[in-house]
Amino acid sequence: VNDPAAVILDAEATRRLGYRIVDALVDEYQLPRSERPVPQASMHRFLERVSEPPPAAPADPDATLELAFEALRENMNHTDHPRFFSRVPGPSSAAGALGDMLATALNAGAMSESGHAGPTALELVVLGWLTELLGMPAETEGVLLSGGSMSSLTAFATARRVMLGEHDPAATAYLSDQSHSAIERGLRILGFAPDRIRILPSDEHLRLSPDVLADAIAADRAAGLRPFVVVANAGTTNSGAVDPMHAIADIAAAEGLWLHVDGAYGAPAALTDRARRLLDGMQRADSLTLDPHKWLFAPYEIGVLLVRRPGALEQTFSVDPEYLRDSGAGLHFRNRGPQLSRATRALKLWMIFKLHGVDALRAAVDRGIALAEIAEQELRAGADWTVVSPAQLAVVCFEHRRLPAEQLTARALADGYAAPSSTVLHGRSVVRLCTINPRTTEQEIRETIRRMDALAHAVAGG
Ligand SMILES: Cc1ncc(COP(=O)(O)O)c(C=O)c1O
Repeated sequence: VNDPAAVILDAEATRRLGYRIVDALVDEYQLPRSERPVPQASMHRFLERVSEPPPAAPADPDATLELAFEALRENMNHTDHPRFFSRVPGPSSAAGALGDMLATALNAGAMSESGHAGPTALELVVLGWLTELLGMPAETEGVLLSGGSMSSLTAFATARRVMLGEHDPAATAYLSDQSHSAIERGLRILGFAPDRIRILPSDEHLRLSPDVLADAIAADRAAGLRPFVVVANAGTTNSGAVDPMHAIADIAAAEGLWLHVDGAYGAPAALTDRARRLLDGMQRADSLTLDPHKWLFAPYEIGVLLVRRPGALEQTFSVDPEYLRDSGAGLHFRNRGPQLSRATRALKLWMIFKLHGVDALRAAVDRGIALAEIAEQELRAGADWTVVSPAQLAVVCFEHRRLPAEQLTARALADGYAAPSSTVLHGRSVVRLCTINPRTTEQEIRETIRRMDALAHAVAGG
């Protein structure tokens, strides 16, 4: 067939380009990585390279792939690079990428049980594994979404449906000033007014204080409001802090609030002996968010939502249009969230679990926690560093006596060896390392800190 209207790339070109993409995948996970974790890219410069009218005729396939590689290799942060420590890295894996490639290659959807029996089964299996590993009750149900933001949004829609039925303008949500911005955004999208989103001040350890929470709930009840959901952090983005899970779960139970746990990045730490106790109580959540595209080594995008109450997701999202009725009864993941057409996200996570096994994943997560502890020791041994927030769930925050955090971070990025980031903890600017990539070596951690120290001295003198 050589009919351009059929939109078929010839088999030879498909194979050639496909093999080159597989080669790129293999290269991606070879160590050491020679490129900078954060290249000196400019969107506008690259836009000039690719701006053109809609292509009228087919372009050369190999040249097109070259341009695509240029977009991704030289013009993008490599969040899976062993020395990318900014924000929350995306230390993906070959197993996950292969799963995603296969799902894409075969255009695998996961909308209905009848139409997507295999993908639906795989989604049930990975949700079941996570339910068990996190210690949630066996009847817990879930759904795979694009990431933590969509997962929390979906959880709040579910909480509202179950707890309130319809939207109630008096309904009030509680979170800490360390909660991720996705929490506030999710609530806002659902129509919660800013004064129904109670952002409570965190304590000196950057945790939500049960007393502050209880007082806020009491004050709001006295004012005629309707407290209905509280969000606990299982690892904040800023510092890795974990809110006191049992104490917050106790308040939620006593007050009849829905407990949502945001474990988007931190929840996998519950697999490890080192962090299990810290996260204990998380399994009491009514809903829990976990992002495999962060600390379970999956490529973007995949977020998990687990919901304790069976049927709650369907109660919230089920619709029954006439054109879908012939897909029959059964489990249709399209009825557990906002998406109808949805990719088989389960496949990449299933491949990761199958090709590595839980013990290897546990060790990989544990290694990330250990690397931040090594960074902390190294900082404490230096003359000019102050550890502002100790290593918690693979995050450590600190400052240098000679150079403000933002400047030091900018210098480190310009130097190119490693990519730390900066944040602000209770008004104090800090440098931050998030060390969840299991391919990072101890030597790279020490060298990152040594170079930042040298940069601070070079700029500030002395
Ligand atoms: C604690 C936490 N919650 C939510 C999110 C948002 O997740 P996503 O970017 O996958 O939407 C993040 C992302 O970094 C996070 O760290």
